[in-house]
Amino acid sequence: MSSPTHSAKSFSAPTTTRALLKKVVVLGATSGIALEVQRHLARLGCELLLVARSPERLAEVQSDLLARGASQVLTCAADLAAIEYHAGIFDFVRRSFSGYDTVLLSYGAMQDQKDSEASVDVLLSELHVNYVSAAALLTLFAADMEQRRTGCIAAITSVAGDRGRRSNYVYGSAKGALSLFLQGLRSRLHPAGVKVITIKPGPVQTPMTDHLPNAARFAQPEMVARDIVRALERRSPDVLYTPKIWRYVMAAVEHIPETLFKRLSF
Ligand SMILES: NC(=O)c1ccc[n+]([C@@H]2O[C@H](COP(=O)([O-])OP(=O)(O)OC[C@H]3O[C@@H](n4cnc5c(N)ncnc54)[C@H](OP(=O)(O)O)[C@@H]3O)[C@@H](O)[C@H]2O)c1
Repeated sequence: MSSPTHSAKSFSAPTTTRALLKKVVVLGATSGIALEVQRHLARLGCELLLVARSPERLAEVQSDLLARGASQVLTCAADLAAIEYHAGIFDFVRRSFSGYDTVLLSYGAMQDQKDSEASVDVLLSELHVNYVSAAALLTLFAADMEQRRTGCIAAITSVAGDRGRRSNYVYGSAKGALSLFLQGLRSRLHPAGVKVITIKPGPVQTPMTDHLPNAARFAQPEMVARDIVRALERRSPDVLYTPKIWRYVMAAVEHIPETLFKRLSF
């Protein structure tokens, strides 16, 4: 595992974005959903600090976002599951991007459920990347924002975290744990005026899902990104279901009695 590497590029562009959304840190900046969110933010003239694993992909995304109107794009290449690097990443953000107002956590991994059932190592790695490392990293940002008494933390969990299902309960349990973590964090940071947004997408067409049989019917990442950016601009709602229909779907799913639910094969 390599230690984090950094780079910066900027050009002057008119800042047209709303007052609350100017300097955004994206943790997992090469994800299909994050790429679309970042394009919206670039059009708004935001400054961005992007963290992701691949320096090559980061460089491509950096150029693309500058061409689309971002006023500054910094990058930091790091494996976000490696908790030993979190302090270094956070230090880079504070030194190079002081006064950042928004953090969006968008990284995650979905293994084949059967692999997690067969191997405790696979299971632990899925829990680690989706929950443990995310909670660890957000804890650093939370303390800083709480002390500054400003800002917004948003993190992508999943509707899969709302109820444990036979076909993906390992991934779902990590996302559910992250949703609970965010709920508590929201309450902790409320007195300091720091907002915490839990983003729960339904299935979205991205590299994470493109091998799944019904992928063509999943939501487009552009649509989900629009909802996310609107929530970041408004710093509301506390819990965003996207596309919106998933709020109602999951409300119905949660009401299915357990005696019936355990017999369902999905
Ligand atoms: N697509 C869906 O249906 C769906 C539904 C609900 C929630 N979500 C969640 O939405 C978020 C974005 O996923 P996506 O749909 O956009 O899929 P994606 O394109 O596969 O993005 C996942 C991203 O996570 C990054 N990642 C994984 N492990 C990492 C690590 N250790 N360090 C740094 N980055 C790491 C990957 O980096 P690399 O590019 O280096 O591989 C990839 O960019 C994830 O949290 C996912 O769980 C997705």
